[in-house]
Amino acid sequence: MSLSTTKLANFLADDQLTKAQILSLIDLAKKIKANPTDYNQALAGKSVAMIFEKPSLRTHVSFDMGISKLGGHALYLGQQNGKLGERERISDYANNLSCYADAIVARVFSNDSIEGLAKHASVPVINALCDLYHPCQALADFVTLSELFDDISTVKFAYVGDGNNVSNSLMIMAAIVGVDFTLVCPQGHGPEQTMLDKATAFAQASGSKLVFTTDIEEIGEQDVIYTDTWVSMGDEDPSKKAAILEKFAAYQVNHGLMAKTGASKVMHCQPAHLGEEITTELFDDKDKSVVFQEAENRMWAQNAVLVTLLAG
Ligand code: NVA
Repeated sequence: MSLSTTKLANFLADDQLTKAQILSLIDLAKKIKANPTDYNQALAGKSVAMIFEKPSLRTHVSFDMGISKLGGHALYLGQQNGKLGERERISDYANNLSCYADAIVARVFSNDSIEGLAKHASVPVINALCDLYHPCQALADFVTLSELFDDISTVKFAYVGDGNNVSNSLMIMAAIVGVDFTLVCPQGHGPEQTMLDKATAFAQASGSKLVFTTDIEEIGEQDVIYTDTWVSMGDEDPSKKAAILEKFAAYQVNHGLMAKTGASKVMHCQPAHLGEEITTELFDDKDKSVVFQEAENRMWAQNAVLVTLLAG
């Protein structure tokens, strides 16, 4: 379903959001963060079903506690029913949950499951991570950027590492809102061409600069560097670990890369594999690392999504 109109029906993928919708969600997240008591009844009497096919710390806790802060009720559905679509069809999942819940949050292996839930549910669906996108993370990260910089349109933002769900969401959101974005991934680990094509079209429309390179020497000057784990959940293969470590070694985010690019801040969605994609020293650097500000903003950003979808 297209979200190009001003009214949000679901929160599925960054490429379904307009610049106005993203800026309005960032603004609302900051308002809720500044005055949480103003919103403590926003979800009164409402229940949210949360499906998790994959592990989670921040997403599970930030949705649960965030919904509680809005006066609503969250129900966690873990692996007890198996993978979506196996014990019951996805359409049956969506139709059953729609009988009880006012919204569905889902972390799934495949974007097809998110699309299936949204197609069949009569209540809003929120993507809490799939193979292609992590829009809640990207929204929270743009809230963080807007707290760190007066004008995010002037920020030079780079992602270094594996082209994955997080980099897709960040790249597309940056292109929509007009932030210059540089993506640096090892050969063979970049985004799918369809993602690059989408982001390129958005960047042309917003006037932002989008660079994709496999050469870390081409990273240029940056304000912020972002990284994520070199292997995502579900893709772990112990037999390939040594080859991945060798291939990605030159793409580690460390104090040397920060100095070389002039970047003042480093971001990471977590969980981090310390000593791999980021050094422990940089992750723990209180001046440069904003990883816990990002983690906190997950809750405020998601609350902005929930308020927008459920409270008018
Ligand atoms: N790319 C990572 C993000 C974790 C929040 C994964 O999918 O495992």
